[in-house]
Amino acid sequence: MAKSSLLSLLLFGATSFASPASPLTKRETVTVTQTINSPSSTSSIWSTGAKTDFPIHSSCNHTERAQLERALGEAVTLAKHAMEHILRWRNSSEIYQKYFGNASTGEPIGWFEKVVAGDRGGYLFRCDNPDGNCAQEGWGGHWRGSNATDETVICPLSYSTRKPLEAMCGYGYTVTGSNTNFYFASDLLHRLYHMPAIGEGTVEHYAGEYDECLELAETHPEEAVRNSDSLQYFALEAYAYDIALPGEGCVGKPVVPSSTPVASQTGVPTPTVTQAPSVTSEAAKECHTHSDGTEHCL
Ligand SMILES: *[C@@H]1O[C@H](CO)[C@@H](O)[C@H](O)[C@H]1NC(C)=O
Ligand SMILES: *[C@@H]1O[C@H](CO)[C@@H](O)[C@H](O)[C@H]1NC(C)=O
Ligand SMILES: *[C@@H]1O[C@H](CO)[C@@H](O)[C@H](O)[C@H]1NC(C)=O
Ligand SMILES: *[C@@H]1O[C@H](CO)[C@@H](O)[C@H](O)[C@H]1NC(C)=O
Ligand SMILES: [Zn+2]
Repeated sequence: MAKSSLLSLLLFGATSFASPASPLTKRETVTVTQTINSPSSTSSIWSTGAKTDFPIHSSCNHTERAQLERALGEAVTLAKHAMEHILRWRNSSEIYQKYFGNASTGEPIGWFEKVVAGDRGGYLFRCDNPDGNCAQEGWGGHWRGSNATDETVICPLSYSTRKPLEAMCGYGYTVTGSNTNFYFASDLLHRLYHMPAIGEGTVEHYAGEYDECLELAETHPEEAVRNSDSLQYFALEAYAYDIALPGEGCVGKPVVPSSTPVASQTGVPTPTVTQAPSVTSEAAKECHTHSDGTEHCL
């Protein structure tokens, strides 16, 4: 009833005001026609409300936002290539077998695809310091855990230390000898997988260091494909070998098995303490800090 009277009103409006001499009026006529033909179809389109921009909190200043947007874009680039490498080579890729063993390819493709094309609603990056953790030395950021499951804080340190993806294989980086958070892109990949909307609590830490990841691929391939560090190592090595230095990459020296530590900055061997949770504040029960300042909350 209301609809038909609106219709006639609009048609009346269209005919009475349309004047061939006026382009502006003409445009109004077109708009009126569309309104009549599709009254409310836009509100039922399946993708209405989809979020495609990275959710960056208002606490990030201009500089931080610009850098975060670039780095998150790089994380997508990294994940996208990892996915495409698997789509191209399936499990015949040596890099694939190295990190994922005989696991089926569908799962890791899916975890990468979620970063590439998943909806960007349901998680948030912020730059303030709501939990006070950024004051702790070496902290580049942290997942907020039980304080805010869908939020990750990026601390100022990240902006001055994490390398851009185009520096792949530069600055002395090697896959075996450097941390997975050497590049902002892989650091953020790790942080994205902690967000329930992306990692679903399934991508987790089943193994950490490089040699442990290789072992996991042999002993528990079904965990390797959902191991945060295996996904990062795979993405980094595939990108280095396929894109940065094609056919060459920068794997680096094989890691000496067992607990031999990577040479420390002073050259003096130090005991490997990476796996021991270092107790920090009352969050210790659910969080642990890796020696490189990476924060993990369980
Ligand atoms: C690769 O996948 C094929 C097809 O599923 C399977 O037959 C083969 O055993 C797999 N190879 C390895 C090394 O996992
Ligand atoms: C991988 O190999 C193990 C041991 O040979 C086997 O039990 C398992 O079914 C294989 N997984 C796949 C996905 O082929
Ligand atoms: C959660 O908030 C409390 C109180 O501000 C803080 O002490 C704790 O460290 C926070 N937890 C995390 C994981 O940051
Ligand atoms: C934004 O915050 C960073 C700290 O992360 C600071 O170094 C920088 O000066 C700030 N930029 C502006 C434009 O205020
Ligand atoms: Zn973690």
